[in-house]
Amino acid sequence: PWIEAFAPATVSNLGPGFDCLGLALRGPGDRVRARRAEAPGVTIVKVEGDGGKLPRAADKNTAGVAVAELLRRHAPDAGVELEVHKGLPLGSGLGSSGASACAALVAADAALGLGLQPAQLVDLAREGERVACGAAHPDNVAPAILGGVVLIPQLDPLRLIALPSPADLWLAVYTPGCSVSTAEARAVLPAQVPLAATVQQASRLGLLVHALHCGDLSLLGEAIVDELVEPCRARLIPGYLDAKAACCEAGALACSISGSGPTTFALAASRGRAEALLAILEECFTLAGVPGTGLCDQV
Ligand code: HSE
Repeated sequence: PWIEAFAPATVSNLGPGFDCLGLALRGPGDRVRARRAEAPGVTIVKVEGDGGKLPRAADKNTAGVAVAELLRRHAPDAGVELEVHKGLPLGSGLGSSGASACAALVAADAALGLGLQPAQLVDLAREGERVACGAAHPDNVAPAILGGVVLIPQLDPLRLIALPSPADLWLAVYTPGCSVSTAEARAVLPAQVPLAATVQQASRLGLLVHALHCGDLSLLGEAIVDELVEPCRARLIPGYLDAKAACCEAGALACSISGSGPTTFALAASRGRAEALLAILEECFTLAGVPGTGLCDQV
C-alpha cells in the first residue's frame, strides 16, 4: 500500500541563526507517497506541482537522494517507489527541497516499517540538501521533521533542540516572483567574517533563545537582526530593503529573509497585524516588479 507523508514549509536562519535555527509553518508543504517495491533502490514514479522543473532521476532529486541514503544505511536490499506532490515553490527560501526529502523519508520509513528516530531522519534529509545546494545544512529539515522552532547546536553527531513556540506569534510570509537558488545565495557569502560582527551575531542568537523561553515577543523581535549574512544577500532580492524598511516603520517585531530567500518574513503579535504587514510586503514587492504570493501563518 502507498503511505503518504506531509512536510511543512520552514523559515530558516531567523535572523542570527544562520544554518542552525529554523521553524516550521503550519499551512503549506509538500506531500510524498511511498511504497515498497520489488526492485531494489529508489524509483520516482511521479512528480507533480513543480511545473516540470525538478529532476525525475532519483539520484538528482532531493527526495530520491534522501531515501537512497536511508536504504544504504538502514535497508540495503529494499526497494521503494515515490510519488512527489510539490506544494511549495522551488528556489523560494521556504525549505522546498528539504520538505520533499523529509516527507519522502517519513513515508519510506513507514512503508518499510523501520521506525527511525527523528534525528536519524533529519540526518538523512541533510543528504538531500547536499545535492540541492552543495551544503548539507540542517536548518530547514530539522524543523520540517520535528515541527516548531528547532536549534541545531551540533552536526556530528547531530543534536536537535526543540525550543518553545510562542502561541501568539504570527508571521507574514511573502514570496516575491523571482527565484534565488540557495547555491547562488551561499556563493555570495564571505568565507571569513569580522570578530566584532560575530560576537554581535552570537549575542543576538543567545537573546533569541532567551526570548523564546520567556515568550517575550518584543525581545524576540530585537534578536532577529542579521548583520552577517543578510547584507550580502539583500541585493539578490529586488525591493527587499524597501520592503523591510516599510515593515519596520509599520511596527513589525522583525523582518528578515527566510532561509536563502527571496521569501521575506515579518513578525507580529496578532493575526490582524500580520495581515497588515503582508499587505505592505505585497505592495513593496509589486512596486519592485516582482509580485508574488504570501500568507499569514503561525509556528
Ligand atoms: N541556512 C541556509 C542558508 C538555508 O541560508 O543558506 C537555505 O534555505
